[in-house]
Amino acid sequence: MKYALVTGAASGIGIAISRVLARKGYGIVMVSSSQKHLMQAKKNMAKRFPKTKVYTIKEDLSRKNSAQELYNKVKEMGVIIDILVNNAGKGLIGATEKIDINSDEELLYLNMVTPTLLCKLFLKDMYKRKRGSILNVASTAAFQPGPYNSTYFASKAYLYSYSRAIRHEAAKHGVHVCTLCPGTTDTKFFEKEGIKTPAWAMSAVKVAEYAIDGLCKNKAVIIPGKTNKLFRVIPSEIKLIAISLLKKPGK
Ligand SMILES: NC(=O)c1ccc[n+]([C@@H]2O[C@H](COP(=O)([O-])OP(=O)(O)OC[C@H]3O[C@@H](n4cnc5c(N)ncnc54)[C@H](OP(=O)(O)O)[C@@H]3O)[C@@H](O)[C@H]2O)c1
Repeated sequence: MKYALVTGAASGIGIAISRVLARKGYGIVMVSSSQKHLMQAKKNMAKRFPKTKVYTIKEDLSRKNSAQELYNKVKEMGVIIDILVNNAGKGLIGATEKIDINSDEELLYLNMVTPTLLCKLFLKDMYKRKRGSILNVASTAAFQPGPYNSTYFASKAYLYSYSRAIRHEAAKHGVHVCTLCPGTTDTKFFEKEGIKTPAWAMSAVKVAEYAIDGLCKNKAVIIPGKTNKLFRVIPSEIKLIAISLLKKPGK
């Protein structure tokens, strides 16, 4: 059986991607920071896909050594990862001087450092086997700066750039690296940021279908939906002003 490792697999886009991959016959290694969330997600997967092999790993990916720890746990399990999905992420809204410094540091680890280190660790094994795929979940936030959501937007711009760069290196080794840039998606993401999910949000199921279709076609950048594709080409200065007005605390 081939296996996919999905970070942030307990909810939202991560669980939706896990389901699409299970439907395609992959065993799933689900990773999240909460044992409770993982148990719920595993139960849910077992109901829908009774034949799918599901492993869970509890790992807080916002900590310094978490990428290496996760990699070691996968090695100990003896599972070979064919698809790595770097999906776990979080956002923080507010003026930069008001956001707690430790919370911002955790965001930078979770959204940038850990996915980078996981790519580096798993790519080496994929290069040896001359096969494998990585899907890095960035965002349409990668396409312009985001005032009052500054570290989140910057972290996604970083992941977008890193992911596209290593794609070129990996191609020589028979390994695919794709970058997913969802727009507003209906998950717990906004609730966790302390705001309402916008009414126009796309469903996580739809985003996951676009994502795995794009991964199977080895698309460099996967942007779900026409509106999000259009958003990419609006001049960055215009988007920056609009985002500043939209995200300013008290709005
Ligand atoms: N929703 C959107 O509008 C949107 C748009 C573009 C891109 N994205 C990106 O899509 C990805 C998934 O987000 P989502 O919308 O599906 O939000 P979500 O429902 O909040 O899912 C986030 C996932 O990440 C996990 N996670 C959070 N902190 C973690 C940590 N420290 N260690 C390990 N896992 C952690 C969560 O599980 P636990 O809490 O159990 O750890 C959860 O499964 C993120 O990278 C996000 O930036 C979202």
